[in-house]
Amino acid sequence: MEVKKAVIPAAGLGTRFLPATKSMPKEMLPLIDRPVIQYVVEEAIASGIDDILIITGRGKRAIEDYFDNSPELEMHLQQHHKEALLKQIQDISSMVDIHYIRQKEPKGLGDAVLRAEKHVGDDPFAILLGDDIIVNDVPCTRQLINVFQKYRCSVLAVEQVPDHKVSSYGIIKGKPVEDGLCTLEDIVEKPPLEQAPSNMGAIGRYVLTPEIFDCIKQTKRGAGNEVQLTDGIRLLKGFQKVYGFSFHGRRYDTGDQVGYVQAIVEFALNNPELRENLLEHLKSLVK
Ligand code: G1P
Repeated sequence: MEVKKAVIPAAGLGTRFLPATKSMPKEMLPLIDRPVIQYVVEEAIASGIDDILIITGRGKRAIEDYFDNSPELEMHLQQHHKEALLKQIQDISSMVDIHYIRQKEPKGLGDAVLRAEKHVGDDPFAILLGDDIIVNDVPCTRQLINVFQKYRCSVLAVEQVPDHKVSSYGIIKGKPVEDGLCTLEDIVEKPPLEQAPSNMGAIGRYVLTPEIFDCIKQTKRGAGNEVQLTDGIRLLKGFQKVYGFSFHGRRYDTGDQVGYVQAIVEFALNNPELRENLLEHLKSLVK
């Protein structure tokens, strides 16, 4: 069975970017000319996903507007012969079948994912968290789907994280199966460094079997007094194999202020139209 559905949780309050996110979803913060969430949607599409459910919440309407048609803007661009821009704008709204459901209360990532149960049904599905942008020829989600198709079990993308970041991630204890792949023996949400089972963090890309929903239902509030997806996965791995996969690619953590700025600078340096001017400016700053 192919993995065709993806869930993008986007109900979080974005407190790390306040006050900017007071009246604007953090998923709409731009990386140069596109909001963060567009990169995530594009990754899903490039991975073979054809049905996306975005979990939104209060104050997130800008996301729905963004992926909708915009007749006035399109007419304006047409009248002013801005064909290239017009095509870009039209492409955004015709990218993929996008559905929305609201998480009424911000009770945590696990609870947000549970909102997707009816939509997902009995199929395996992908989850992409909006803060992580991963750049690679074979998209990270596609890499996970490939692992799923080979082993028919849930798999999450993992990466080594620095000591001072361990307490910001779901941290796994893995038993190597083959190069880059391990069986999950444990997973703990945001452990203090001293209690962490390793330095390998889950980085916001998952392919999960639908049994995760029952596991989340049995999950009590955990770290931060929230219902955690990590705790659901911990239950899941008790009766189904769950793998951790060291994905290929470069990850930008745009949920972190430094990571966000790094992503913008690096994306700009990779853009031939921006590179020279930016380099010149950066050099003048450090003189
Ligand atoms: C979430 C997950 C955590 C994961 C992280 C990856 O945390 O709960 O397990 O490691 O995303 O970015 P958040 O960053 O939403 O606090």
